Amino acid sequence: DWTMAAFRDAEISKIRHQVGSGRVICGLSGGVDSSVAAVLIHEAIGDQLTCIFVDHGLLRQGEAEQVVALFRDHYNIPLVHRDASDLFLGQLDGVTDPEVKRKTIGRLFIQVFEEEAKKIGGADFLAQGTLYPDVIESVSFTGGPSVTIKSHHNVGGLPERMNMKLVEPLRELFKDEVRKLGRELGLPEKMIRRHPFPGPGLAIRVPGEITREKLDILRKADAVYLDAIDKAGLYDEIWQAFAVLLPVKTVGVMGDGRTYDYVCALRAVTSTDGMTADFYPFEPAFLGRVATRIINEVKGINRVVYDYTSKPPGTIEWE
Ligand code: XMP
Repeated sequence: DWTMAAFRDAEISKIRHQVGSGRVICGLSGGVDSSVAAVLIHEAIGDQLTCIFVDHGLLRQGEAEQVVALFRDHYNIPLVHRDASDLFLGQLDGVTDPEVKRKTIGRLFIQVFEEEAKKIGGADFLAQGTLYPDVIESVSFTGGPSVTIKSHHNVGGLPERMNMKLVEPLRELFKDEVRKLGRELGLPEKMIRRHPFPGPGLAIRVPGEITREKLDILRKADAVYLDAIDKAGLYDEIWQAFAVLLPVKTVGVMGDGRTYDYVCALRAVTSTDGMTADFYPFEPAFLGRVATRIINEVKGINRVVYDYTSKPPGTIEWE
């Protein structure tokens, strides 16, 4: 794609010009935007860049390992991986209100990010994978439970406190253009195709109280569901697909025994920007196979339901 090749070269010059011999830190989330930003900046300025990956313990199965494998092992980009799951899950203990969950996670994220940035001696610049819709959204989006959308990826207040200037090489791009740029930069297709994942992670997919046990059960069910979607060739038709672990136990029967386990809800939507969405119309037989797999493969779940709500009136996430 010649336009993206040209864009890449132009951005690399711009970054070099802006940064000079300064040091840059970039927060990685495991998502497409921050990954593309990091790889682009690394092409421009090499080891003047350090990435910081704050692992809040609310990621999906295998996600933290994938981030480390890609950035540290494959790209050789200096990467700080801070496992802060004890801190996050400790502070979330007993928290049930969705907005309190978001605020707690946002506050801790900034705190941990700042600690790690100080440990490496700070930097002159903070890089972020801000896209054009984020630039627009931050001034015009109001209402609903997602007012704080993306708020914690953008480490608000930190640049001023640490006297850093922002580097935002994607701020003129839409999501599909970021994906093209990612291909131009040679990022793995699996990373480029990824569905969006909310900053608060699995915290908002465990309605009510969060426990390590519930998170473990949810991770397994979610992995089975996504594997089935991928194998059916449906992943790219869907905007987001994920499992939710409901705070409800119901009775079931397995072998000669009665079970009393959690209900898992499956969600899949199509959308162009996340602002409106339609439920994905899976074939009933597909859902039946996924339900059977989840119940057989995931201890702790004995019932699976599918969410037929579009947005509006529903939101994509359950919290
Ligand atoms: P809702 O649930 O509001 O979600 O329909 C719309 C899109 O936003 C994502 N989302 C979030 N992303 N922090 C984020 O970074 C959040 O607090 C948050 N809440 C929702 C959601 O996954 C969907 O893509």
